[in-house]
Amino acid sequence: MRNAPAYEVRHLRKVYNDPKVLANDGITFSVQPGETFGLLGPNGAGKSTVVKQLVGLVAPTSGEVRLFGEPIVAGAGAEMRVGRTVAYLPQAVLPLGELKVNEALRWTGMLRGLGKKTAQTEADELIEVLQLGSIVDRQMRKLSGGQKRLTHIGMTLAGRLPVLILDEPTADIDPSLRRKIWGLIGDRTRHGAAAILVTHDVAEAEHALGRVAIIDRGKVVASGTPAELKADLSHRTRIELVVAEGAGIDVRQLAREMGGDTRVRGRHVSAWVPADLALRTLEKVMAWSEPGQLEDVRLVTPGLEDVYLELRGHAFEEDEAGSVDQAGDD
Ligand SMILES: Nc1ncnc2c1ncn2[C@@H]1O[C@H](COP(=O)(O)OP(=O)(O)O)[C@@H](O)[C@H]1O
Ligand SMILES: [Mg+2]
Repeated sequence: MRNAPAYEVRHLRKVYNDPKVLANDGITFSVQPGETFGLLGPNGAGKSTVVKQLVGLVAPTSGEVRLFGEPIVAGAGAEMRVGRTVAYLPQAVLPLGELKVNEALRWTGMLRGLGKKTAQTEADELIEVLQLGSIVDRQMRKLSGGQKRLTHIGMTLAGRLPVLILDEPTADIDPSLRRKIWGLIGDRTRHGAAAILVTHDVAEAEHALGRVAIIDRGKVVASGTPAELKADLSHRTRIELVVAEGAGIDVRQLAREMGGDTRVRGRHVSAWVPADLALRTLEKVMAWSEPGQLEDVRLVTPGLEDVYLELRGHAFEEDEAGSVDQAGDD
């Protein structure tokens, strides 16, 4: 349908039955062509469940998913229809053991309608950017986890489908290549593709995403551009400092001197203070300590990660440590 959003998701609710889990509880968003949209949230928040419903692999308990205006109904050949429009990278890596890297990329392009020559040219470009040159003739089953994932990212990009959905694409990839991957995806959206990216790495996503929805326990708890989400925090600054080992400073006393909303962990102090008091607080810290007693001092402007942590409150870190991601391979 002309002018329809790439994806429109309304009141999506998913209850799994075995075990009984309310994984999505009324999720609504839409994504336009040309947009890079992020689904952020901690492990178990329900992100993978959303994308599995987007591609017709899981049926919603209630609610609606439309792809360019057409409803997606799981089963009923949905996967075939979605497959012609949407390149989907699942969180769990698919077994494609016997294929060689070069074949996997070229054939994916051909499956998506490119001629053999164009498909090979495109495969060569992807091999170059993703630094797969030394392993093009290696079978997928003989690759490391990171190499497999890179090859799958290449396959998602091959053939230039109008919609990309990547579930935790950069999970086991070097930081330097991560940037290139976000860059490749950004390039596709500038050319009109719609991209939906799932990640729990908020700091990394901040630069790559145009708009985000933060999901927690099956609900969208905040959405907007990273700048919009950060606006609420912009009147505050965080001071991070590390007391030198054996400096003989009472860290808790120092934290009290600083005032504001302060947390102490070992030798680390983290304090939120009103932005206009940041420098004065820093002066107080300097006056209170001797040169050499502080190992590191920095002023941190709030980022998207702070919004995220703020939303979850202090419960987040406890949750994170205790939760296991059972996602991806059901
Ligand atoms: N097939 C399934 N059956 C039952 N529960 C599931 C199934 N798949 C996922 N879950 C549960 O649903 C919740 C959301 O999972 P998921 O969507 O994978 O979260 P995320 O991708 O955000 O980590 C989790 O509590 C998870 O354990
Ligand atoms: Mg997941």
